Amino acid sequence: MILKDPRVIFSAYLSFSLITCLTCCDIPRIATYFGTKGRYEEVNTYLINDKLAVNETLIRGASSTCSAVHLTAVIRHGTRYPTTKNVKKMKDFYNLVQSNAPDWSHKLNQSLWKMWYTEDMDGRLVQKGREDHTNLAKRLAKYFPTLITEENLRNGSIKFITSSKHRCVNSTIAFKTGLIEYFGIGGEEFDHEVNDALMRFFDACAKWVAEVEKNKLALKEVDLFNGTPEMKRTAEKLADRLQVPYSQLTADSVEGALYLCAYDFAIKSINSLWCQLFDEMDAKVIEYATDLKQFWKRSYGHEINSKSSCALFHDLFKRLDQAASDSRSGHVSEAVTIQVGHAETLLPLLTLLGLFKDIEPLTSTNFATQADRIFRAGRIVPYAANLVVVLYNCPEGFRLEARLNEKPLRLPKLDTDFPLFDDVKRNYAELLQGCNPKTECELTNV
Ligand SMILES: *[C@@H]1O[C@H](CO)[C@@H](O)[C@H](O)[C@H]1NC(C)=O
Ligand SMILES: *[C@@H]1O[C@H](CO)[C@@H](O)[C@H](O)[C@H]1NC(C)=O
Ligand SMILES: *[C@@H]1O[C@H](CO)[C@@H](O)[C@H](O)[C@H]1NC(C)=O
Repeated sequence: MILKDPRVIFSAYLSFSLITCLTCCDIPRIATYFGTKGRYEEVNTYLINDKLAVNETLIRGASSTCSAVHLTAVIRHGTRYPTTKNVKKMKDFYNLVQSNAPDWSHKLNQSLWKMWYTEDMDGRLVQKGREDHTNLAKRLAKYFPTLITEENLRNGSIKFITSSKHRCVNSTIAFKTGLIEYFGIGGEEFDHEVNDALMRFFDACAKWVAEVEKNKLALKEVDLFNGTPEMKRTAEKLADRLQVPYSQLTADSVEGALYLCAYDFAIKSINSLWCQLFDEMDAKVIEYATDLKQFWKRSYGHEINSKSSCALFHDLFKRLDQAASDSRSGHVSEAVTIQVGHAETLLPLLTLLGLFKDIEPLTSTNFATQADRIFRAGRIVPYAANLVVVLYNCPEGFRLEARLNEKPLRLPKLDTDFPLFDDVKRNYAELLQGCNPKTECELTNV
């Protein structure tokens, strides 16, 4: 027997695994359609190879003309387990496959996939979610080296505010860990403040709760979409692939099936067998259903959705004004504010700011004409989504820069990514003078 040179065997093995890796199945083909269940990496694909990569052209260090004086970041919590409600949908679908789809059930068992989701997971932050925040903290420190500094962290000029939900508190802790590692100051601890009035303002907005959250009619477009030919066809194709009668699949089963693919990928980075139950068109249809829900529940669908965020809007501008006036007198007491909340925190605020607004509203009947819409939750608020607003002191006055998910964000009615703060305030004058959380959220008895 002739033994092959081990180097040859090794390089053959290497190229084989490289080929399977590149051509096969690491990332589900439908991964960009997971909406709010999508990975941050789908928005910034360069992070897949280097978790700490930053876009060099966007680093704002000391410049000869402008100096950064304040940064506020509003950040969604990182990757998390499904909520109890969604685990139930996933289990129901799994059980249906086990009892009614023998071929699929056999394939699943062969792939060694086991039902690993349990109801007590209850939306908790996962390890990947901690890393989302630890790495984001390090990248933001690279982007803003004059604001996110060791000294500012040590002397309390970096403030942390979080929603009370465990996944947000733990994301905040992970973010702080990222900075502690970045500056190499292990053993230090930094406080955070829990503030639901700011980070979960929607719960406190009686009008939103009554008119949207508890009002079935508020989401009627979502219900109507479930009855459209597009959604029916998606369910039928799923039934065909499983070889079960059409009557056995509901909208909840389709959702449960997609979650199995999406969560396996987001949490464990695996492209599981479940993903093969959908083609790209199916995924687009389901994405539209979830975007419709976000649109009517958190965004332009009802005016109170965005108005519920007035408290956070005013908080942001108050911090910027304070930093501007501090900067004039030479001592900025709060250089950085890190606020951790939910997709439901970011979407209403972005909507109030007039961002991601399509010409036509999203409805149950315009799936086809909305194919190129800008309102795609998966692009706007994936896990660890972040809105970063930075104030600069320049010779010609203060300037503002906004970024969403580490990319420049052009505010409405402006022709530059680096507008004068006064021009921004002029554009939002009506909101700055009004948008009173008390009166906007008051229930008027009609
Ligand atoms: C880096 O940022 C610049 C300016 O926004 C942009 O034109 C460029 O495409 C970005 N590069 C990457 C790799 O995203
Ligand atoms: C939050 O993190 C702590 C410490 O890492 C951990 O013990 C706890 O279980 C986490 N809680 C949730 C809800 O993830
Ligand atoms: C913290 O340190 C920075 C850098 O020395 C300084 O500019 C800032 O005023 C200090 N802030 C406080 C609150 O002491």
